[in-house]
Amino acid sequence: MTEHDQSATDNGTEDNNIENTKEKYIRKIRSFVKREGRMTKRQQTAIDDLWPTMGVDYQEQQIDFTELFGNANPVVLEIGFGMGKSLIEMAKNAPEKNFLGIEVHGPGVGACLADAGEAGVTNLRVMNHDAVEVLEFMIPDQSLSTFQLYFPDPWHKARHHKRRIVQPAFIENMRPKLAIGGVIHMATDWENYAEHMLEVLQAASDFKNISTEGDYAPRPDWRPLTKFESRGHRLGHGVWDLLFERIS
Ligand SMILES: C[S@@+](CC[C@H](N)C(=O)[O-])C[C@H]1O[C@@H](n2cnc3c(N)ncnc32)[C@H](O)[C@@H]1O
Repeated sequence: MTEHDQSATDNGTEDNNIENTKEKYIRKIRSFVKREGRMTKRQQTAIDDLWPTMGVDYQEQQIDFTELFGNANPVVLEIGFGMGKSLIEMAKNAPEKNFLGIEVHGPGVGACLADAGEAGVTNLRVMNHDAVEVLEFMIPDQSLSTFQLYFPDPWHKARHHKRRIVQPAFIENMRPKLAIGGVIHMATDWENYAEHMLEVLQAASDFKNISTEGDYAPRPDWRPLTKFESRGHRLGHGVWDLLFERIS
């Protein structure tokens, strides 16, 4: 269901039709609120110049990663890269891997492209769309070596917890996309969300916790500090990393 399905319910006649046909119109719960904001000139220029080579348009068709990157290297998918600084650093530090970043915030996508252009990274592609839909329609089964989700919106209030992107159904949809031996890596600076992530991942079938402690792992040195994480540090927050491997 999309928003336009919801808008149909704003029309009384259609409401009646819905009643008559006993169709159910359920509004989709999203993990973000669209806050478009203004693009800076630098961000807009980067999109104009680099989208043709580094941008991937949303379509309900699976991506051929070998064609997209021009090689068959392992693919790392990151959801919600923000302004993209840590994603670019990871891409720069691991030229033997391919990175696909998905972010709904347009200026963040522009900033990421601008910095990626300056850094000269060639193993990074970006998308500007709801990652939940990208996952469902565009990512082939067993095509990912790593799935990373760093500091997703915590949706602090209990009545908003349903908006958290990490839910059992989300992990269920993610699981087949990972190759066997592939890894889910999450991090958060919100303890209550960390506990929720752990609970959901422990309950998911076919995953093994890589942490020797059986819960959280220290930050691996290949994960750079992110912008939100630095902000969390300034506020005195802790950080929890979770690493789970797909074992079957
Ligand atoms: C709290 S920020 C963290 C950004 C970055 N990972 C960091 O640590 O600095 C969460 C980001 O996830 C993005 N986001 C939330 N839900 C998303 C979705 N369904 N698809 C793509 N991006 C999403 C938001 O736009 C936001 O930029």
